[in-house]
Amino acid sequence: MKIQSIRGVKDILPDEIWKWQYIESVAHNIFPRYGFREIRLPIFEDTRLFSRSIGEATDIVEKEMYTFNDRGGDSITLRPEGTASVVRAYVQHKMCNPPSVLKMFYIGPMFRYERPQAGRLRQFNQIGVEAMGSPSPIVDVEVMTMLMEFFRELGLNNIKLEINSLGSQECRPRYRELLKAEIEKSLDQLCSNCKARYQRNPLRVLDCKVEQCGKVAVGLPKIIDHLDAASAEHFSEVRSLLDSASTPYSVNASLVRGLDYYNRTAFEVTSKNLGAQNAICGGGRYDTLVEELDGPSTPCFGFALGLERLVSLVPFNDMKNLQKYPDVFIVCLGEETKTTGFQIAHELRLKGFWVERDYEMGSMKSQMRKANKSQSRFSLILGENEIRSGKFVLKHMETGEQIECPVEELATEIAKLSADS
Ligand code: HAM
Repeated sequence: MKIQSIRGVKDILPDEIWKWQYIESVAHNIFPRYGFREIRLPIFEDTRLFSRSIGEATDIVEKEMYTFNDRGGDSITLRPEGTASVVRAYVQHKMCNPPSVLKMFYIGPMFRYERPQAGRLRQFNQIGVEAMGSPSPIVDVEVMTMLMEFFRELGLNNIKLEINSLGSQECRPRYRELLKAEIEKSLDQLCSNCKARYQRNPLRVLDCKVEQCGKVAVGLPKIIDHLDAASAEHFSEVRSLLDSASTPYSVNASLVRGLDYYNRTAFEVTSKNLGAQNAICGGGRYDTLVEELDGPSTPCFGFALGLERLVSLVPFNDMKNLQKYPDVFIVCLGEETKTTGFQIAHELRLKGFWVERDYEMGSMKSQMRKANKSQSRFSLILGENEIRSGKFVLKHMETGEQIECPVEELATEIAKLSADS
């Protein structure tokens, strides 16, 4: 039996990788303008890191973590998200440096044992950012506008930024009790999952995707109507700063997020073009997590976006200037061309061109077939006559146009013709 990849896990093949690299390059270009620098974190951590930070009563911790005992008997978990690891690193390396805000981003795979479906994988990739050290609503809005600028640069349209406030320790316990009491009045109409979890995590009933729960949720009290004064002020500042940046958004009072560490601003970016799993990005403020993980009081704000979902949305066909295929395919005809072909390929590569060739040096017909298949922009034909005369035939594969070119002018000619076409 041939071994296949695990269910819910995908290879990213060379024909696709340029899309990923392009998106990552845009992140590397835009995020540092806002002061974010990259951090590379381990793929696995002590299990307690995630149960303590994400919350014992969340889907992720209850049923989605890849947890195992290693050979030394320690409980290890493949990271289901990046925020907990960033906070762990922040505390471990004593990175706090008030009064400046520490800003970091990360790119990499996350693991959740979810039911695989379109847009939902068991190993998926995220780009995440975390700004650590300020409670200011300016941070919330700077990070959200940076994200929207990133999406704009990638040519995304039809996306929606939705925000909510989840209040604070001051107002949430009271609100939770009120919510539970209201939920109890319609308990028989809820799905079995919500019935089982509403005592421990009543907020999740608000964003349950099951239709009957959605109907109940409409009538339930919303947290933005029960905010303490400081949280209400924070939310109002976030809204007016978003307005001042002309960033379109809407308030979704049912948005609660699936991780427990949030307070105040929470947000999601969704796309109609994604189907059922329509969230490209989620994030928000988490002001108490660093302390809960034994660090100094450090208010934070961050987000993570799903790269598989993003790759499926970016209009790559409109991006003509991205290099997907080789510049030149060298066709070598006859033994005598072996060394010259090798040298020309080497020289062109040193000058920055992507050069392919046929190592078997088959017939002209078979090499031209390979050149076509490689989708190279040009083919360069090297026969014994060409070597003797020092002039080579450069063929534009799409137009069929051919020009004769001395060896020393090849690089300039290819660059010139590429710029013209
Ligand atoms: P999250 O909402 O759990 O947040 O995940 C963020 C994004 O990751 C989602 O919007 C989605 O695009 C993608 N994603 C999540 N699960 C899957 C999956 N099974 N398959 C494919 N894509 C998926 C977090 O992870 C938080 N750490 C975000 C954050 C950072 N909050 C503050 N800082």
